[in-house]
Amino acid sequence: MQFDINKKWWKEKVVYQLYPRSFKDANGDGVGDLRGIIEKLDYIKSLGIDVVWLNPVYESPNDDMGYDISDYRSIMKEFGTMDDFDALLKGLHDRGIKLIMDLVVNHTSDEHLWFKESKKSKDNPYRNYYHWWDAEKGEPPYRWSIFDKESNAWKYDATTNSYYLHIFSEKQPDLNWENPKVRYEVYDMMKFWLDKGIDGFRLDVIACISKDISFPEMPKTMKAGDWFPYYAQGPHLHEYLQEMNREVFSKYDCMNVGEMSFVTTEDALLFVDEDRRELQTFYHFDHTGVGVSKENFMYADDSNWDLVAWKNIFWKWDQVFAKKGWGTIYLGNHDMSRMVSRFGNDSEKHRALSAKMLHTFILSMRATPYIYNGDELGMTNTNHTEIEKYQDVYTINYYNGLKQKGGDYEGFLKSHATISRDNARTPMQWNQELHAGFTEATPWLAVNKNYSFLNVAEQENNPSSVLHYFRRMIQLRKNHETLVYGAFELVDEKNDQIFAYKRVLDSEVLLVVLNFSDAPAVLTTSLAFSNSHILISNLEQPQIDHFFQPYAAVIYQIQQ
Ligand code: GLC
Ligand code: CA
Repeated sequence: MQFDINKKWWKEKVVYQLYPRSFKDANGDGVGDLRGIIEKLDYIKSLGIDVVWLNPVYESPNDDMGYDISDYRSIMKEFGTMDDFDALLKGLHDRGIKLIMDLVVNHTSDEHLWFKESKKSKDNPYRNYYHWWDAEKGEPPYRWSIFDKESNAWKYDATTNSYYLHIFSEKQPDLNWENPKVRYEVYDMMKFWLDKGIDGFRLDVIACISKDISFPEMPKTMKAGDWFPYYAQGPHLHEYLQEMNREVFSKYDCMNVGEMSFVTTEDALLFVDEDRRELQTFYHFDHTGVGVSKENFMYADDSNWDLVAWKNIFWKWDQVFAKKGWGTIYLGNHDMSRMVSRFGNDSEKHRALSAKMLHTFILSMRATPYIYNGDELGMTNTNHTEIEKYQDVYTINYYNGLKQKGGDYEGFLKSHATISRDNARTPMQWNQELHAGFTEATPWLAVNKNYSFLNVAEQENNPSSVLHYFRRMIQLRKNHETLVYGAFELVDEKNDQIFAYKRVLDSEVLLVVLNFSDAPAVLTTSLAFSNSHILISNLEQPQIDHFFQPYAAVIYQIQQ
């Protein structure tokens, strides 16, 4: 198939998301740090990835683990110094790896100088950096907050008899993007980092920066999942992104990816159509919601899992970017549970196999792949049901809120255990020594007990490990442009066990077959594939007779 390919370097990269707090502790205080990452640079290079996305490393009181920034231009003390940062950046660049940083600009920490000033008086020069509601007007129209103990996004502050808005925790006041001073402070800060040589940004909750600041009342009958138009995709969003592009992105050869909540396939291109000069890529959440309660998305229920629906989500999104724009693909990050526990099968029998199958998927789709650290090993959930085991503000505050209101806090914890963010934040499992070789001290979040057999050292020595397979799969993507740019087409779309698709570029036709189930499955297609050359598979004999084995993954090169 011939079609125009708009090639760009950032479409061809594989991104490794690195959570610094849990990667490697170099100074023995139980918290990962930049020197720790530097110690592991050769490991990072060995994976074959091209870009590192670093979760926030800026100064922060860590109410939300770095997503509450108190100084955008300095490094969090626990993580090290600016010299350490410069050394890390150089270490990555020396190895041909790019670095993108987290840009958290919907809100700051309440300990940021801007907010401390803003609070002081109504005529403070920083007053309009945030959203204030004068209590003389009465109570502000209700806004729900995901991280607030009382689920209330307005916090009363007696100093000026006003409420301030915080969609996230009360320690994360929302910046007022209507104020050009705020926007230009942000652009300057972005240039500060880009001038240092970083290669771009991942833009945290970027769809929230513009909201309807008349703060209309929300209809009382609405369910949680329908509230979002009141928080995101506000009237000036595109204007601000175009301005950011003009002031910052257009001046550098950098890459960017927006965290795009509440985006639909209909408005997707408004963000990433090259001609509109906004963003290059973003990631949506559509596939992460399958199996999660619609009424209350803090609850998960896997009985709702539906592979056909899931496949159609990817199919639909691929079509959006077939001619313009470009997509991303991921199955895990620091806000989700572990990829293999959520979308594969983390039982002893199927863990390694299903993790390899998921890597085959991520690395054979038409989109820039993102892999979250630890997933290259198939690290799993911890599924804790005791609140004491959690560190995440999200889990802790929601739990406490339910307890106060007399809600079903135990039921919440039971269900939430499978989707809690702390599942993915446990320390990286390096070896079978104390605390998995992550630290010599007590780690800030306990190591998953399975580190004794699930760790980097073991997998390095085991040629059939998930880690080795992951590296092979990355090399395969690099060697076959078809896996990056080739057209995508679902095969046997109604099959509720197998996810199969073709990737086609020029004369190359590849068929990817992935059994997402724990039972053998048959692929129904007119394509003659069974004698085709196999480029990669997670099983020596993935297919026996007509059956694909449980969690089989295989890529065929079809002879035309
Ligand atoms: C994003 C981050 C998440 C954080 C939230 C508030 O969703 O990924 O970790 O808690 O924004 O900044
Ligand atoms: Ca440390």
